[in-house]
Amino acid sequence: MRIEGIRNVVIVGAGTMGPGIAATFARHGYDATLTDIDAQQIDKARATLELVFTTWKAGGFASDADIAAARGRLTLAIDASEKIARADFVLENAPERLELKREIFAHLCGVTRASAILASDTSGIPITDIQRDLPNPGRIVGMHWSNPPHLIPVIEVVRGRETAPATVDTIVALVESVAMIPAIVDRDVPGFVENRILYAVMREALHLLDERVASAEAIDTIVRWGIGYKLGVVGPLRLLDMAGLDIYTAVASYLNRDLCNDSGVSSTVTSKVAAGRLGVKTQGGLFDYTPEEVERLARERGRLLVASKKALTS
Ligand SMILES: NC(=O)c1ccc[n+]([C@@H]2O[C@H](COP(=O)([O-])OP(=O)(O)OC[C@H]3O[C@@H](n4cnc5c(N)ncnc54)[C@H](O)[C@@H]3O)[C@@H](O)[C@H]2O)c1
Repeated sequence: MRIEGIRNVVIVGAGTMGPGIAATFARHGYDATLTDIDAQQIDKARATLELVFTTWKAGGFASDADIAAARGRLTLAIDASEKIARADFVLENAPERLELKREIFAHLCGVTRASAILASDTSGIPITDIQRDLPNPGRIVGMHWSNPPHLIPVIEVVRGRETAPATVDTIVALVESVAMIPAIVDRDVPGFVENRILYAVMREALHLLDERVASAEAIDTIVRWGIGYKLGVVGPLRLLDMAGLDIYTAVASYLNRDLCNDSGVSSTVTSKVAAGRLGVKTQGGLFDYTPEEVERLARERGRLLVASKKALTS
């Protein structure tokens, strides 16, 4: 299937990621269907979609007319079997469990047209494990969006061992057609690229907290306004060239051996989880939150992502 053949897309799973992704496809002219096995999730998705449209409008990413047109191209349905049978492209967005994903793909392989492309938004399960033993695995590929998907520009296009090169080419074109930035991951190692790097950062941040090197507040401030600010403008490898590979060699030769290489989970995190402190969803995790702060944090994150996206793409 080439990009010109893609009109009807179906998003399977309407949780955190599904609504923003479905809205993005609809905003860029695709007929998008969002489906879930849970009717409550479909109801929640309707509210999330409103938030997506409001954010786009406030950020100048979509006019009232664009939003009205996108609404007209969006369908939310518990039973999407007819849409799936006619789909050109299906993106699976179900919970991160290999067995569940394999079940969904086995079903999709049986009910979709042979030319349809089937993708997974898995955060890091190798696509090779999902496509193993399925018929026509060349059309199965990873398409890893970042949260919130209607704002974060990059999408990893992940090649499984059996993924056909033409499938990767089509997904790259599909990502560009919805005004996002594709980046190909050639080998589907667990976590791909984005989450491997993010988890390396989070492991070190938690290690520094466990070792009382700095407070949680200070660690976040240093990463956000030092590393994060810089990396939004230039990637880590080009940053190495700009800093000088000789400087890197001098620092890395004493620092690398001191960095955290634990394969387990930070004791701070395991004890918080054991105490039922899971983060903003329980109004307490590594920090404490009032209900007002939880709301303000979500609003502020959206506002700042919009502002920085506009600044970085201007
Ligand atoms: N949340 C994130 O920040 C994030 C970021 C990038 C990628 N992802 C990945 O995207 C995928 C979805 O994540 P999420 O956070 O949206 O999960 P979620 O748990 O919020 O939503 C998953 C949805 O899938 C539905 N579902 C379960 N089985 C189904 C089935 N057989 N058919 C249709 N719907 C089904 C559930 O009812 C639920 O609404 C995961 O693989 C996750 O790793 C998540």
